[in-house]
Amino acid sequence: MGKITIAIDGYSSTGKSTIAKRLAAALNYIYVDTGAMYRAVTLFALNSGLVSDKGDVDVEALIDKLSGIHLKFVPNKKTGRSDMFLNDENVEQEIRSMRVSAFVSPVAAIKEVREKLVKIQQEMGKDKGIVMDGRDIGTVVFPDAELKLFMTASPETRAARRYKELLEKGEEVTYAEVLKNVEERDRIDSTRTISPLTKAKDAIEFDNSDMGLEEQFERIYDFSQRVI
Ligand code: C5P
Repeated sequence: MGKITIAIDGYSSTGKSTIAKRLAAALNYIYVDTGAMYRAVTLFALNSGLVSDKGDVDVEALIDKLSGIHLKFVPNKKTGRSDMFLNDENVEQEIRSMRVSAFVSPVAAIKEVREKLVKIQQEMGKDKGIVMDGRDIGTVVFPDAELKLFMTASPETRAARRYKELLEKGEEVTYAEVLKNVEERDRIDSTRTISPLTKAKDAIEFDNSDMGLEEQFERIYDFSQRVI
């Protein structure tokens, strides 16, 4: 078989992007982090004053402004990865903040936001040779993907990983805040009406709670070699 499509879905902070990035590099495939796209739209909403002090997103106003949101992934020679650009501004750092994490799930539940981003994602993957991670890649974006993985790990394991990452970046957060955010995003993502986070029937479930990066990569690389 030639180039395939690899869909990696799962809960927040299951290490999807770390594995997806590494797999894409090993296979010489394109890597796309769809969470970054939902995060960039959320940052746009926050910066445009479309989120009230009470934390409500002005859905109508955001839908109205969607056509003015331009997203681009630009390779970064220093990191060897791609940075997310929102209307020509590099927002890679900002989109990973807790401020964005706190509002991304309600924004990602908006039908029009999903329609816009899914269309861009499908276009990016039309020639295959792609590893894409997110919540609905195996169910909605590429239901015919040749390899689908569904990553899970306990909420505590995931929150601990995320907490460490945020501390390393210098964010002032507590473990309890991170755990609450991880659980809240999982709840909203799994119960929303449109494209809820759910395992595709033909996806391989992969629990990495007690697994190091090396072992995860080897196993997942092996899955890919059985299909390619
Ligand atoms: O992957 P990451 O945790 O950065 O994603 C941030 C949020 O974006 C998720 O909690 C979810 O609400 C949303 N998302 C989504 N569909 C995707 C990717 C991300 O709804 N394909």
